[in-house]
Amino acid sequence: MSDTQLIKDKLDITDLVGEYVQLRPAGVNKKGLCPFHHEKSPSFMVNSERQSWHCFGCSKGGDVFSFVQEIEGMEFIEALKFLANRAGVPLTNIREDTNKSQKNRIKDLNAEAARFFYNFLLKMPASKSALEYLRHRGVKDETIDAWQVGFISDQWDLLTQYLLKKGRSIDDLVASGLTIKRENADPVSKKGFYDRFRGRIMFPIWDAHGTVVGFTGRVLVETENSGGKYVNTPQTLVYDKSRVVFGLDKAKQEIKRKDLAVMVEGQMDVIACHQAGMKNVVATSGTAMTEEQIRLLKRYSMNLAIAFDADAAGQNAAKRGFDVALSEGMNIKIISIPEGGGKDADECLKKNPAVWFKAVYEAKEYMAWRFFRVFSDKDTKNPKVKQTIANELLPDISRIQYAIERDHWLRELGGKLNVDVGVLKEDMQRLRANPKSEIRNPKQISNAKSQIEVSKTRFDLLVERLFVLLLRYPTLLSPNGGSAFGGQIENLPESVLSTTSFCPLYELLKSRYTQGTNWTLDDLRHDSPNPETIELIDTLAMQGDLLFSELGENEVRQEVQAIAGEIKKEWRKGRLQELQKEIFEAENKNDEERLLVLQKEFEGLK
Ligand code: UTP
Ligand code: MN
Repeated sequence: MSDTQLIKDKLDITDLVGEYVQLRPAGVNKKGLCPFHHEKSPSFMVNSERQSWHCFGCSKGGDVFSFVQEIEGMEFIEALKFLANRAGVPLTNIREDTNKSQKNRIKDLNAEAARFFYNFLLKMPASKSALEYLRHRGVKDETIDAWQVGFISDQWDLLTQYLLKKGRSIDDLVASGLTIKRENADPVSKKGFYDRFRGRIMFPIWDAHGTVVGFTGRVLVETENSGGKYVNTPQTLVYDKSRVVFGLDKAKQEIKRKDLAVMVEGQMDVIACHQAGMKNVVATSGTAMTEEQIRLLKRYSMNLAIAFDADAAGQNAAKRGFDVALSEGMNIKIISIPEGGGKDADECLKKNPAVWFKAVYEAKEYMAWRFFRVFSDKDTKNPKVKQTIANELLPDISRIQYAIERDHWLRELGGKLNVDVGVLKEDMQRLRANPKSEIRNPKQISNAKSQIEVSKTRFDLLVERLFVLLLRYPTLLSPNGGSAFGGQIENLPESVLSTTSFCPLYELLKSRYTQGTNWTLDDLRHDSPNPETIELIDTLAMQGDLLFSELGENEVRQEVQAIAGEIKKEWRKGRLQELQKEIFEAENKNDEERLLVLQKEFEGLK
């Protein structure tokens, strides 16, 4: 048996996916909110029997391997190792050289460099001032250990030389970002290469699994040539700052437990918070939050409290991050450190820990905070100012997903501006970006909303839905189950269903119905002429669980009838249009014979 099959057999896909997505039962499957696109109601399905997953919103799907690749941003081979490790399956067929891809060599280099910096800090006399600095800032020894804080003195190429001596290649060193190559560098003599990090306190940056992917280095003594206060690893094969949340590997458990992530601005703030016992704290690397970072956080909690320097020029960047988090459906609170409490979490904790804990506890709900900011020092009598305020707040309000909450803030705004809510709604309509058009159900089915967003025509969607139902309720619709495949479907001209991409499946169903015995999905899979049809069956069956798992027998019958009727109508409409075109062409060509046939069909359909 292949390694991949062995791993698949040992792992339960619902357990694995369940660590990233909250899953609820839906028929024999499980459903949840898709981690790969933003949605409000679940269209993400996991099928444990088939060991597969599929999202009906963004059309992604596959097995455990593709899931891990997608969600962790791993290559196949990495996902294979990751899952092999989890399943306790030793990899037999893996080729040696794949073990030593440059990506893996960089990870090794990072781990080695982290040890080097850490040992340097603790053992070298040259680190005396660095240790004193850290102690002065209140960093305890346990904290230095836990975060593997390190140091490197201000020399030209200390680390580069050390790693070269250990047999590392200069190419890998440059690719890891630890070494910088000068223009006139000579790879043979290894001259012209120098350390990126010099004279800095070093903080390893871990990904969510605890792999060192990069570093951030804080200057110890700021001089003219010391560069920025913080220097970070540039983009490498293993480090992408927009995909890493600093501290997440150490904070994730607590974030889940408290159902809240606290986002601060700097690495020092994260470390200080953890040291003070607040362990659900993370940071970005000095940038606005990205979609990838938000999705990482969402695995652990939907609640996010953010502390940021309110007076900094970074206001707009921060707002962009909030917008990303809001559009991903997160609940945001804003932490404000009171006047005199210190400029950031680290300072505040040093001055008075209770003030910081209270500030986090009393974080303002995002909309309340927005109102507070936008209204502060504004002359609400001036009509121009009133419009500006509305322009600022209406986009925020319109983004709120829940009607009652939205209504609350609209009234609040109306009250404060002394403007009618109706007028605000008008303005909101104007400001609102292209609203999503919804696919109307032939018959409105309560709480079985379709989240399908791919561009399918109404006809395609109806046909798909029909097959979903036929697969979902095989016994109910088969002759022995008391209902008639014939009755419902034969009303549809054969050509209608056989012209769609569902034709092979239609043929399978037809022959099963004609045989007149009961059948199961596995029978159909067995009948299937090719793997694509099996896949289609799996996909449609999952969709059935997603959309129709709560329907009773009568409702299903009515639904099938309604859909079949609609399909016929749609098909007729489309066919009439086609015929009109063909008639027009035939007239142009004076093709009398063809014209007659077409006109006959046209009359018959009208
Ligand atoms: P701050 O300048 O607020 O630093 O930058 P800090 O975290 O308070 O640092 P200390 O307390 O002086 O040691 C906040 C974050 O912005 C990023 C870093 O991630 C930093 O933690 N930053 C800042 C940089 O990447 N480069 C810089 O030059 C400055
Ligand atoms: Mn600070």
